Amino acid sequence: MSVIKRIAVLTSGGDAPGMNAAIRAVTRCALAQDWDVLGVRRGYAGLVEGEVEPLSGRTVSNIMQRGGTMLGSARCPEFETEGTRREALHRLKENRVDALVVIGGNGSQAGALALAEMGVPVAGVASTIDNDLAGSEITIGVDTALNIALEAIDRLKTTASSHQRAFLIEVMGRKCGYLALMAGLAGGAELVVIPERATSPEEVARQLRAAYERGKKHAVAVIAEGALHNAAKLDIWFREHSAQIGFDLRTTTLGHVQRGGTPTAFDRLLGARLGAGAVAAPARGEKGILVGLNVGHVITTPLAEVAGVRKVIDPELFQLASVLEQ
Ligand code: F6P
Repeated sequence: MSVIKRIAVLTSGGDAPGMNAAIRAVTRCALAQDWDVLGVRRGYAGLVEGEVEPLSGRTVSNIMQRGGTMLGSARCPEFETEGTRREALHRLKENRVDALVVIGGNGSQAGALALAEMGVPVAGVASTIDNDLAGSEITIGVDTALNIALEAIDRLKTTASSHQRAFLIEVMGRKCGYLALMAGLAGGAELVVIPERATSPEEVARQLRAAYERGKKHAVAVIAEGALHNAAKLDIWFREHSAQIGFDLRTTTLGHVQRGGTPTAFDRLLGARLGAGAVAAPARGEKGILVGLNVGHVITTPLAEVAGVRKVIDPELFQLASVLEQ
């Protein structure tokens, strides 16, 4: 039997398209259990400042199709200190919060684990465009970010072909190459450069040149922002070696455009399912867990096993990319 009367929900770290669907699901599923729901503004920063407000079925109406997060989000490095966490604990007690839902990525779930270890019944929801969080095969926002990157690649390829140019296209992902690899695979790139595999500028130049030698009209390399040689470094190297390169090269960094705008159907559904899971878990007495997806099913994993643990990229996908890019 659940003793929960009031639940709070926050979104933390980088926003991700689909977070609103998760907030809506948490709110409506909690209301269906007859629990009160509090929304915390600006993630852990807002929690520490006591920025909470009641959420109703109506306050979360008409938000699913919107990007970003209706609650706001923030990076909160101070949350790594014990004093700040104690302040958060105090705020949760002050507001009579019986369970907390943390929608966010790796850093946010590390904060969630710290609160869980202080006795707060926490349910994390796997949400980051980087897809670097263990405990969920895919996280909220990845599908939208990938589709935005893909559209950019498709567009850049047409201008690249017209001018017989090479393009370096940098995508986000922090220290994880998932977005770059998947965007490269789906976008038919000639090369993918990811943090998990060091690729020298000479090798990038060699592979792009080889694409022209195979008769291609363009050569596109998708570069992960966390790669040893990111797009900015490669761009400098190509400028310095332009005399020997033999082809024209341009660089585009997609940046935050990948995080903005309307979530795809997949991210809305994922947000809805994981948000619902984050209410179901504490209702059946589970605490200190991350709600994620595994082979299409909503699962929970102890935060202690996943927070701060980086997901490993499937080497077969990298191998597939190197065959298909020929
Ligand atoms: O973690 C999501 C992410 O978009 C990363 O891909 C990127 O490195 C980082 O956040 C950017 O952070 P900020 O929005 O704080 O500049």
